[in-house]
Amino acid sequence: MRKASAESLAWFAGRWDRPQCLAVPLDDRGLSLADGVFETLLWRSDGPVLWAQHWQRLQQGCALLGLEPEPDANWVQAQAAEGFRRLGPSSGLAALRITISRGPGERGLALPQPQQPRLWLHFNAVTPCFDPVDVITSRLVRRHGDCASSRCKTLNYTDAVIARREARMADVDDALLLSSTGHYSCATAANLWVQRGTDWLTPGLDQGCLPGIMRGQLLRHRHCHEHLITRQTLLHGGGFLLNSISCRPIYSLDGQASRHQLSPQEAGQVFAQLLTGSSSGSALALPSTKEMGMTGCIEP
Ligand SMILES: Cc1ncc(COP(=O)(O)O)c(C=O)c1O
Repeated sequence: MRKASAESLAWFAGRWDRPQCLAVPLDDRGLSLADGVFETLLWRSDGPVLWAQHWQRLQQGCALLGLEPEPDANWVQAQAAEGFRRLGPSSGLAALRITISRGPGERGLALPQPQQPRLWLHFNAVTPCFDPVDVITSRLVRRHGDCASSRCKTLNYTDAVIARREARMADVDDALLLSSTGHYSCATAANLWVQRGTDWLTPGLDQGCLPGIMRGQLLRHRHCHEHLITRQTLLHGGGFLLNSISCRPIYSLDGQASRHQLSPQEAGQVFAQLLTGSSSGSALALPSTKEMGMTGCIEP
């Protein structure tokens, strides 16, 4: 994701301001225990992309953590719309992060009574990224399919930070995480898709990957299935890393080039097609579907 760092704006406790000028109190359990959930979604001039799906995952995360009362979806959307208007991103696009923490708490794990969850919003102007990535297989981090927290976006991204650092130290862009069964699960902040013949494959949730919103969009299409992903599949088929802000072709794994590599234009086209399930209508202005030669995969 390419960010224009000057183009960011946040909301907390009734006030819009630059993110560095807003402060969450130090008794917040989001800070001390990563006790909370968040969503990151794309916001266009015509509104949020796939809002209902993101809100549903946020609700599921709140339910898992027993975070209540849950904020009102309409109120949050209206508040965010005001933020986007104030931000007025030059790209016409912004990433919205909605964070909900359990709020204030005493020292220790015991749940506060009553709970007073805190919510804050954070917009960054973005341009969706379709640049290729070189990746390694992380040796330090694994995903666990039998762990409930792998199914929602908790505030705990420590493993992702460790694996991303591991990638940077190996001089590549990102790391792929194996599951506890030794198959590929996902990247640090994206779902993994791999081509096999005319099919596109992604690991099942039992491999510990996040049920990504864009992954869900792609799974609705013909030729897109859940399947175990091995090193062989990856190196033979190539693939891409997908999230709500980017779709990045994988060009190499652990120093070996993938046999098939999507171009950034093709990746952009896949991404654009997946946005069309959003309530806000048309896709981004990107190259035509004919250029990608995989229309079977993405037609509804
Ligand atoms: C670990 C992980 N997997 C997958 C995704 C992709 O999810 P989505 O498509 O909802 O953006 C993300 C997004 O941040 C992520 O952090």
